[in-house]
Amino acid sequence: MKTAIIYASSHGTTEKVAKQIQHGLGIERTQLINLKTTKTLDLSLFDTLVIGGSIHAGQMQSKVKRFCKKNMVDLLQKRVGLFMVGMNEPQFETEFNKAFPELLRKHAITSKCVGGEFLFEKMNFIEKLIVKKVSGISHNVSKIDDSKISELVYDIKE
Ligand SMILES: Cc1cc2nc3c(=O)[nH]c(=O)nc-3n(C[C@H](O)[C@H](O)[C@H](O)COP(=O)(O)O)c2cc1C
Repeated sequence: MKTAIIYASSHGTTEKVAKQIQHGLGIERTQLINLKTTKTLDLSLFDTLVIGGSIHAGQMQSKVKRFCKKNMVDLLQKRVGLFMVGMNEPQFETEFNKAFPELLRKHAITSKCVGGEFLFEKMNFIEKLIVKKVSGISHNVSKIDDSKISELVYDIKE
């Protein structure tokens, strides 16, 4: 049985993290599933699911939230790992608790907030304004926490 890494990404950082997780777990044993481009998904092919997305204005992508809600019964019968990409570290716990349903959080064998990036060339005008106003940052920043990604990979491999 394989592991699916199921994600949504707005500017590419969650996808980068998903690929890093895939390399850690072994490419031949894992499949990347982008919720923005995948219409149908047969979860019976997988015994382990790693699910993640990024936070924008305090919220996880709706595609990730909808996926978790819709498939909750199946998810609770599998090994599940959760990850969240974001830049507002003081809010990570609150954002994570809002991002994934309590039942799933309790069921997950591992949960990690792995940092994120500000990539200004990928943002539209409004997004640039918001990020500059809220964070005071106006240049690209990468704060992906490789150690959290390694911990997640380790927990999934256990
Ligand atoms: C407009 C905007 C709003 C954001 N709001 C938040 C936020 O509320 N909390 C947070 O932790 N990160 C926030 N971020 C940071 C993103 O989560 C970060 O850029 C992440 O790497 C994006 O991942 P993605 O490219 O996979 O979408 C925001 C980023 C942008 C561009």
